[in-house]
Amino acid sequence: MDKKNYYVTTPIYYPSDNLHIGHTYCTVAADTVARFKRVMGYDVKFLTGTDEHGQKIQDVAEKKGLTPKQYLDGIVKNIKDLWETLEISYDYFIRTTDEKHEQIVQKIFQKLYDKGEIYKGTYEGHYCTPCESFWTESQLVDGKCPDCGREVKLAKEEAYFFKLSKYQDRLIKLYEENPEFLEPESRRNEMLNNFLKPGLEDLCVTRSSFDWGVKVPFDDKHVIYVWIDALSNYITSLGYLSENDEDYKKFWPANVHLVGKEIVRFHAIIWPALLMALDIELPKKIFGHGWILFENDKMSKSKGNVMYPEPLINLYGIDSLKYFLLREFSFGSDGSFSREKFLKRINSDLANDLGNLVSRTVAMVDKYNGGIIPEPKLTGEYDESLKELALSTPSIVEKNMDAFNFSIALENIWRLISRTNKYIDETMPWVLAKDENQKDRLDTVLYNLCESLRIISVLIRPIMEKTSNSIWRQLGIDNGAGTDWLSLFKWEGLQTGTKVRKEAPLFPRLDVEKELVRLDKENKKFIELRYGKKAEEKPEKEEELKEEEYITIDDFDKIDLRIAEVIEAKKHPNADKLFVLQLSVGDEKRQVVSGIAKYYKPEDLVGKKLILVANLKPIKLRGIESHGMILAASKGKKLTLASVLEDIKSGAAVK
Ligand code: ME8
Ligand code: MG
Repeated sequence: MDKKNYYVTTPIYYPSDNLHIGHTYCTVAADTVARFKRVMGYDVKFLTGTDEHGQKIQDVAEKKGLTPKQYLDGIVKNIKDLWETLEISYDYFIRTTDEKHEQIVQKIFQKLYDKGEIYKGTYEGHYCTPCESFWTESQLVDGKCPDCGREVKLAKEEAYFFKLSKYQDRLIKLYEENPEFLEPESRRNEMLNNFLKPGLEDLCVTRSSFDWGVKVPFDDKHVIYVWIDALSNYITSLGYLSENDEDYKKFWPANVHLVGKEIVRFHAIIWPALLMALDIELPKKIFGHGWILFENDKMSKSKGNVMYPEPLINLYGIDSLKYFLLREFSFGSDGSFSREKFLKRINSDLANDLGNLVSRTVAMVDKYNGGIIPEPKLTGEYDESLKELALSTPSIVEKNMDAFNFSIALENIWRLISRTNKYIDETMPWVLAKDENQKDRLDTVLYNLCESLRIISVLIRPIMEKTSNSIWRQLGIDNGAGTDWLSLFKWEGLQTGTKVRKEAPLFPRLDVEKELVRLDKENKKFIELRYGKKAEEKPEKEEELKEEEYITIDDFDKIDLRIAEVIEAKKHPNADKLFVLQLSVGDEKRQVVSGIAKYYKPEDLVGKKLILVANLKPIKLRGIESHGMILAASKGKKLTLASVLEDIKSGAAVK
């Protein structure tokens, strides 16, 4: 029988020296999908890569005194290294600077031009350099880029346009007739209401103000708009319009493009319109996933709140990170990352639930049956309920994996893990072991435990291959016997008579407090290694190359200003000028040391609402920790604390 094909893609990443865990999210998800589909017997093509053209790259390279290509080769290697560390099983890595890609992009452009889908005109608009996006006046929000909130600049140039407006009705029809084309539903509504129904304008698809891009084949003053270049990667990498287009014939249309929510517009409007113009089939689905936030802010290097994947992997392994990313967050929605949440999940789900089940099971087979997996002999109470759950779980997992509900798939696998742990408590093998007459029953219990583990090991495999491998070794099935997907629908698929081999605990229990310190150190060590010491304090800011004398709204956004109520004020025991203040900031308590003792009495301050810089790095002042700084105005000998005009709850943000 011919294998069914499956084509899954991630976006191609803008190269940057370091991808944070937000970036790894989509790739980990796509990797999971690819592995899952391979297990299910599909012939899979999994594409990822880098998006290397555009003004932003040219500017950054120039600033570093490198040619774009020199600059890119270095950082693209970092990205590939990271994917290797994470064991991302991509089949093809495209760089938009690949010659083959560039040639095909030119052919695509030419084809659109020849068909009358692209025409020459003049462009006037507002350009957001970091997003590589042109906006019309009405699209701007408060005069700024509606996507990222940054400054835009007015630009006017002769340019080529794609007849995007012509596809408005066909796109609306597409959305209405194929609701599965764009998921989750919230994104579909957003596209329909905010873009499609208000009306599409033709799209400017060339630039002439810089030259780091693919040249328009018949007019080399212009380079092709980076998004046209980038989106095309999904077909250029398959060999579309090239001599060798076997993969294109085999894998197109893509089954799914996984993309972050901020680039849904490009994938769900511009991309299908381009494909319609080229008379090519549309991808079956665009899935717009949510963002991983860090304390409710989008994680970004310029905000200095980044968590890199490497330190997490170094300390806790890739399976922990992959598990966490896919279990903690629901793929379509935003989620907030915290180190505590990460460590707690490792403890509860991985160390306690799964890790314990494996070590208890193997230890009991060792202790009660000389390490040999016994034949099941005597069925008893609880067997049926365990078996029933074990056999019904795979199809639930299948359904949820197919719908990109990774979190629910994992939740269901963990339900089976808990059920199996409970089975140990119910059957009490240690009691059975004391009674020789119960040997047959004990054998069955031990077998059932191992069998349930076998099923679990296959179910977690697309996400946690290392863990799955360890379970296989421990159960003596490292050759993979009885572990294909179909074997999950039959109980008693595990061989008997094999010897178990105990390994070190899969996920040792962590002391969260200690680990937070260790993780912090590891993160710092990593940043130092990559950027050198200086960069740690002042992360590199790609966007802010010009106008250095101004700060941008991004800079200001980094400062978290809050209303804080003084609960207690005391003199600092070792410094006359300092007060130690206890503040309440919303639900949170803070201690801040402040140099205002000359100006205020402690009792004057209690109950006052002040303005606190809440995210200032904590320091010790004369031996006492200070977590933040309160604002005051001073001139000459006068100082007065800053506050607000009307009463407002503590914790309120000051912006
Ligand atoms: O947009 N949480 O590249 P990119 C979740 N080159 N996802 C995040 C994230 C976060 N905190 N931060 C980034 C581009 N991402 C274009 C794509 S495709 C033809 C061209 C995701 O490097 C982001 O949503 O800015 C996007 O899907 C991916 O990382 C690459 O982003
Ligand atoms: Mg982006």
